[in-house]
Amino acid sequence: MSLPGTRLEVMHYLEDFVQEVMDKYLKDVDTNWQPSDLLPDARDEDFLDKVKALQESVKDLSYDYWAVLIGDTITEEALPTYESWLAGMKGVDNEGRNTWSQWIRSWTAEENRHGDLLNKFLYLSGRVNMREMEVSTQYLIADGFDIGTGADPYRNFVYTSFQELATNLSHGRVGALAKKADSNDLSKICGIIAGDEMRHARAYMAFVSKIFEVDPNEMMLAFEDMMKKKIVMPAHFLRETGSPIGKTFEHFSDSAQRLGVYTAQDYVQILNRLVKEWKIADMSGLDDRGEKARDYLMALPDRLKRISDRMKIPQLEYEFSWIGLRQ
Ligand SMILES: [Fe+2]
Ligand SMILES: [Fe+2]
Repeated sequence: MSLPGTRLEVMHYLEDFVQEVMDKYLKDVDTNWQPSDLLPDARDEDFLDKVKALQESVKDLSYDYWAVLIGDTITEEALPTYESWLAGMKGVDNEGRNTWSQWIRSWTAEENRHGDLLNKFLYLSGRVNMREMEVSTQYLIADGFDIGTGADPYRNFVYTSFQELATNLSHGRVGALAKKADSNDLSKICGIIAGDEMRHARAYMAFVSKIFEVDPNEMMLAFEDMMKKKIVMPAHFLRETGSPIGKTFEHFSDSAQRLGVYTAQDYVQILNRLVKEWKIADMSGLDDRGEKARDYLMALPDRLKRISDRMKIPQLEYEFSWIGLRQ
């Protein structure tokens, strides 16, 4: 897609603001949580007892629950895809080390802890076919994703704002379900990751708010375009050994809907949140196309809600290769 030249000017103009956002929403590395803080330490004498206790604590989690937790982990583990996509965005100067490239590196460094922590937890749980999970992870990274943003930072930040809110919600819910099943350590793990996702969501939403201040029409059109295309999940190409590209994603998504951790209603709720956050209703400085886009966006949540109310979720009938005790 060809982008107006103003994109580059706006990205350049925002460079100081990016520094402010980093100072506000990213945490100091020395004191930030690390996966080891939430896992048994293999140097401890009672390490194996702790692993036993961990395995005991997850015994009441349902089949759908494992499907979602593993799918979420694979999604986090495909971080190389997201980093290279962000780095390819217009306005990011990977040679000149501008604040945008610093943001991407720091964001990636925080995100990297998510897959790391979940992966180790799943390994210790004794409930996961790690090899199959790793095959899916390798596939997902090799397959990449196709989310319709191109190299456009405006579309990109709509996507990331949406996604960070979605992962905040889903990790938070997965954590709440773990608590219900008396799996308190896992609940804490999901909760702490959900907290990161919210900080990241606030940062990306702030970028968009700032762009709306200086380039409202183009930002509005980018928001409209992304919502017309629909925000696809980053793991939409998810597959397992021997299965075609994207096949496993449908099953993973059905599990998430059945569990109620990420549903069509949540999609609408997130859209509503973004419409409010970016004050779409009161946006001025728009031309005819921009105003049409604003009207489309304002009407969209209700329209989607009507559709989502009618949607049916299939019953569980699929067997994931990832799940199961060793035979
Ligand atoms: Fe994450
Ligand atoms: Fe995230």
